Amino acid sequence: MKELLFKIFPDSFIRFIFNKTLRAYTIYQSYNYDRKRYKKYSDSFLMKKQNELIGNIIKHYHVFEKGLTMPNTRLGFGQPKLIVLINECLRYIDLFGANEPQLKHAVAVIKEYENFHAENNFALEDNTLENLKKINTLNIEGPVSKQLVQSSEGYFKNVMAPFDEFSFSRHSLRNFKDLEIPMSSITEALEIAKKTPSACNRQAWRTYIFTDKALIQEILKIQGGNRGFGHLADKLIIVTSELGVFGHSFERNQAFIDGGMYLMNLLYALHFKKIGTCPLNCSNTPEKDKILQKLCSVPQSEVFICMIACGFPPDEFKLATSPRYDINFTNKIIG
Ligand SMILES: Cc1cc2nc3c(=O)[nH]c(=O)nc-3n(C[C@H](O)[C@H](O)[C@H](O)COP(=O)(O)O)c2cc1C
Repeated sequence: MKELLFKIFPDSFIRFIFNKTLRAYTIYQSYNYDRKRYKKYSDSFLMKKQNELIGNIIKHYHVFEKGLTMPNTRLGFGQPKLIVLINECLRYIDLFGANEPQLKHAVAVIKEYENFHAENNFALEDNTLENLKKINTLNIEGPVSKQLVQSSEGYFKNVMAPFDEFSFSRHSLRNFKDLEIPMSSITEALEIAKKTPSACNRQAWRTYIFTDKALIQEILKIQGGNRGFGHLADKLIIVTSELGVFGHSFERNQAFIDGGMYLMNLLYALHFKKIGTCPLNCSNTPEKDKILQKLCSVPQSEVFICMIACGFPPDEFKLATSPRYDINFTNKIIG
């Protein structure tokens, strides 16, 4: 059969077809491998595993951290979600105990929410109070959390400091004043960020800078994770990554890795230029992806990495604490 094929068709043609089929198959097989792993280990089906529960707890307490740092925190916000969070914490404690640092922080944020409403003489709903009682009776040790209060001067005071201090001084900002960022500051930040290393120096990142306020709002409405502060953004940067510079199944995630590295570098560069930023996820469903590509004039060959809401900070504002794990938890030294 093989010989017959080689007799009928030129060598190069057969090799071309063979390579194409083989590559298409390995791409299919590799995505299938990823798909199975994601289905098995992600928290999409929320079983009872520790990672799945704590991931959800962090995601849910962060909503309250953000809510408490908004330019205008709405009293009584998110009570149904608070009840979900409380019950997730209770479930976690029941299954795994109360020693996890992020679990303790979740409880601390719940208490901060309660205190914030008490200080503002706001009566929470009976159902919320009952659930708060359940978590309070557990007497989980640890301080009540307090979101950070910062001044614009303090926020940028370490931009020329050694890297450790500089890095610790960057926080996501969810409050912007009504002042235009000069385009030159953005391009200077882009000049710095382009030093990001990338696989074989292929520099797949692309950026789209939006200045039109109406278009920014249209895009942010679809993004969805900027309620309460997105309307204050002066500029919006969208970071994407070009798939065309990568090939074969084994490079299927490289666009996201290189794009993510660029994103971090750009966040630092903008902080260095004294521009406040909040990264905004582009974790899109296929439908949302297509809508955003069209709206943002992003070619189909590019994948979204992240959006960055940009603006100058007001004189005084709040920042979410977003505490990090001890490195002993996230790091393993292998002998
Ligand atoms: C890829 C990515 C997506 C994010 N998406 C959002 C978002 O949609 N809305 C939001 O308010 N914050 C978003 N954030 C900000 C995170 O909540 C924040 O980085 C995290 O809590 C750590 O806090 P820090 O940036 O102040 O250190 C995102 C951050 C990253 C890196």
